[in-house]
Amino acid sequence: MPQNLQDTTTLHNGVKMPWFGLGVFKVQEGSEVVESVKAALKNGYKSIDTAAVYKNEEGVGQGIKEAGVPREELFITTKVWNSDQGYESTLKAFETSMEKLGLDYLDLYLIHWPVAGKYKETWKALEKLYKDGRVRAIGVSNFHVHHLKDLITDAEITPMVNQVEYHPHLAQTELLEFCKAEGIQMEAWSPLKQGELLSDPTIVEIAEKHKKSPAQVILRWDLQNEVVTIPKSIKEHRIIENADIFEFELSVDDMDRLNSLNKNERVGPDPDNFDF
Ligand SMILES: NC(=O)c1ccc[n+]([C@@H]2O[C@H](COP(=O)([O-])OP(=O)(O)OC[C@H]3O[C@@H](n4cnc5c(N)ncnc54)[C@H](OP(=O)(O)O)[C@@H]3O)[C@@H](O)[C@H]2O)c1
Repeated sequence: MPQNLQDTTTLHNGVKMPWFGLGVFKVQEGSEVVESVKAALKNGYKSIDTAAVYKNEEGVGQGIKEAGVPREELFITTKVWNSDQGYESTLKAFETSMEKLGLDYLDLYLIHWPVAGKYKETWKALEKLYKDGRVRAIGVSNFHVHHLKDLITDAEITPMVNQVEYHPHLAQTELLEFCKAEGIQMEAWSPLKQGELLSDPTIVEIAEKHKKSPAQVILRWDLQNEVVTIPKSIKEHRIIENADIFEFELSVDDMDRLNSLNKNERVGPDPDNFDF
């Protein structure tokens, strides 16, 4: 189990990725994202998760610069958007993201969604960026088991990470098992179900027992299931609270109760049925 906010999981290529990070989906470009990133880095976070489509990569880059944390201590993720998928267009989108971020290498580049007929070409571009040393690890997002199997059939490099919607209402047990067996690190997006899970009576009860918040219980559940997690908040007190999960432990009974909340319910689209 990770012991602190800086602890890492080792990806299948040996690169170390923090178990915990800050997500910045729906965080506004400009001061909102700059301040969120700075608040996270000031409070010991090392990992930031953005995407081209979030339209806040410049602010993420500015926050990183202003925070003054040495680059090699950080783990920065961005993603290629659907309309940029394809080989040449992905290479170009990568350069645009890097320019906006103001970075000369990236830690993790992800295919944002499995766009049918495109993601294999996109993956070839990610493999090139990886081999050229532009990015330390490459992965995918929103891939079901069948997408992963299809990609791996032709891929030279197995994805190091699969970032998917994951929370107690969407436990993704089959996908998690598959990823573990293939050496693919699973990463949770919308770990708090965008706030919806915070009033769930079972989660509230477990939180009261441990004198923790519902958010802390959910994020700890992620880690005890060996899933990297990246909750989003623009509020410094929540950024601090969310990361304060390394000094308590959910019992087997707590974990069973949280696992039993699963109802395969999403807050986002199903990767088999999206139209963007
Ligand atoms: N790959 C993908 O397709 C994909 C899709 C969605 C998200 N993501 C990534 O995953 C990250 C996290 O997911 P998310 O942003 O969708 O949702 P989330 O982290 O599950 O929830 C964020 C919401 O919860 C609130 N919140 C955060 N901490 C809280 C706390 N301790 N107590 C009460 N409320 C709290 C936030 O409000 P405040 O900000 O006001 O605190 C915000 O409204 C994203 O930011 C993004 O980086 C990836």
